[in-house]
Amino acid sequence: MVSLSNHLSPAVPSPHALTQDELKTLVGQAALDYVVRGQWVGVGTGSTVNKFIDALGSIRHEIAGAVSSSVASTERLRALGIEVRDANTIERLAVYIDGADEIDGKGYMVKGGGAALTREKIVAAQSDRFVCIADASKRVSVLGKFPLPVEVIPMASARITRQFAAMGGRAAVRMAGDKPLVTDNGQLLIDVQGLSISDPLAFEAEVSQWPGVLTVGVFAFQRAHICLLATDAGVQTLRFD
Ligand code: A5P
Repeated sequence: MVSLSNHLSPAVPSPHALTQDELKTLVGQAALDYVVRGQWVGVGTGSTVNKFIDALGSIRHEIAGAVSSSVASTERLRALGIEVRDANTIERLAVYIDGADEIDGKGYMVKGGGAALTREKIVAAQSDRFVCIADASKRVSVLGKFPLPVEVIPMASARITRQFAAMGGRAAVRMAGDKPLVTDNGQLLIDVQGLSISDPLAFEAEVSQWPGVLTVGVFAFQRAHICLLATDAGVQTLRFD
């Protein structure tokens, strides 16, 4: 069951059309309220999280440091003087803060547009609470409009592509220029269009056990507990627990 609350940010004196960048800044700043002072914080990846990392810099002396989900986020955190620890050195994190490509009414998400889905799922799994930060365009009723990212072992990419085709999806290896994009984990990504994921838990469970799939970008088992949604009228808080 989702519950809703709204508050107008003091930074926004009256509702007006905010740019995508302003919406991301607004929600990145709002996420500071969920950072547990004195503790390690789990940090996601992407353009919205970059705004959160910048805001986190302003309270860097109030936190122990961060566990990061990508090389890019680690570099940004360290540039701001925030210590980053390997995920293996910290058993539990109170909170993980990350963006999403889509989020539905139960806190289930599609993630991986920024290619960091595997490490994101790992850090989310060791966190007590997932706080998703997003702008209102990410809110959907059914997951699947955004091409679903799936990280795969290269020798399995053709077979996995055929398995998605049998489901009605169109899968393609993600490119970086004229070469396949290689993830932080040295693997490939495929993006799958044309899916309608009405049962995210069942979908994640099934695709995760296909040989060669490293991580599927459906986050149902690691769903969000809270979503801070940036709108022109301020930050809306959706609670899923
Ligand atoms: C990174 O791999 C993704 O899961 C991101 O969290 C997601 O793509 C959202 O990114 P933006 O904040 O850049 O939209």
